[in-house]
Amino acid sequence: MSTDSPAERPLLEVLREDFGLTGTKYGCGEGQCRACTVLIDGRPEPSCLTPVSRAAGASVTTIEGLASGGDLTQVQRAFLEADAAQCGYCTAGMIVEATALLRRNPRPSRSEIVDSMNPHLCRCCGYPNILRAVEMAARPDGDDA
Ligand code: FES
Ligand code: FES
Repeated sequence: MSTDSPAERPLLEVLREDFGLTGTKYGCGEGQCRACTVLIDGRPEPSCLTPVSRAAGASVTTIEGLASGGDLTQVQRAFLEADAAQCGYCTAGMIVEATALLRRNPRPSRSEIVDSMNPHLCRCCGYPNILRAVEMAARPDGDDA
């Protein structure tokens, strides 16, 4: 995809308004909630603070780009199984963050999961199930870290 958008425009705005990729959510617009997290060259970044120019030539993955051929990823399935969404507003950012974590560290400890997910706010306070979902994705066999 390409855009002739002004360089300083937030990536989040371009994704949602120009490309129709509305899975990535606008929460605070200030880098405080991480609802807007996308992967830029595999790294989770808050797209509300990221100028679109930073994405030039980079690989940008949104929540829409995780499932392949209609098959949900292990992280997405774990979120469903753990009932890790109430209103769902934070969910895309949470799943994108957890995906990045498990790609760089396939078997994170509980504290590594908490540290990675810590910048993400859930206004429904669904944290117990969210953390359980990430643990389920990291340890599908249920063994301890
Ligand atoms: S909308 Fe980007 S961090 Fe809140
Ligand atoms: S499920 Fe509602 S904000 Fe997290």
